[in-house]
Amino acid sequence: MEPLQQIERTELWVKDKLDGEGTGHDWHHIHRVTTQAKEIAEIEGADVFIVTLAALLHDLIDDKVVVSEEEGLKEVTNWLEEIGTTVEQRNHILTIITTMSFKGGNNEPVTTPEAQVVQDADRLDAIGAIGIARTFVYAGSKGDPMYNPELAVRESLTLEEYRNGQSSAIGHFYEKLLKLKDLMNTNEGKKRAETRHKFLEDFLNQFLTEWS
Ligand code: ADP
Ligand code: NI
Repeated sequence: MEPLQQIERTELWVKDKLDGEGTGHDWHHIHRVTTQAKEIAEIEGADVFIVTLAALLHDLIDDKVVVSEEEGLKEVTNWLEEIGTTVEQRNHILTIITTMSFKGGNNEPVTTPEAQVVQDADRLDAIGAIGIARTFVYAGSKGDPMYNPELAVRESLTLEEYRNGQSSAIGHFYEKLLKLKDLMNTNEGKKRAETRHKFLEDFLNQFLTEWS
């Protein structure tokens, strides 16, 4: 199969799998991330084919989307075999999608240029106006409040507070969104994060001013 066809087939497969997904991992998120990842890959000189497939598949091992990460990995591996990717391509793509998630920001930094690009594109979609909207949609889907005045000024929640369901949309800004700018890997990613980060800060200031 030609590379272009491998990508087109994968697009349709992912679109079908994410149909009706309500936690912010919908097809539109994947599409935005893939588009931005391709642009950044070209500017940074990363392998556009690997970046595109990894971006398309990056959320399919998330346990919010599939039963388990293991199950998701199996499905994605089978798919990559079915469309005729090489072992090398497959391993690279699988490594990217298993290592790139935020998970508190404490995991090992990703190493290949392709992984760095896809991670940056995913992080860009978590900040700016879109990131704010996704955060409120996600909080709503969990039944979390938009703001919890007792907790929001703190840097992060303890595991216990999480379990007690005391997280909030505004709290998530402190837990994750405001940290992403400094975690960007590529120069182009850093550049693109600046405006979006500024928008987060402006939004937060306005929100907290109105609240008080
Ligand atoms: P991704 O890896 O695609 O960024 P995540 O699973 O981390 O996906 O989250 C999906 C979206 O929901 C992101 O925009 C993220 O910032 C937001 N989100 C994740 N956890 C929370 C939370 N506890 N409260 C509010 N928003 C959240
Ligand atoms: Ni994502």
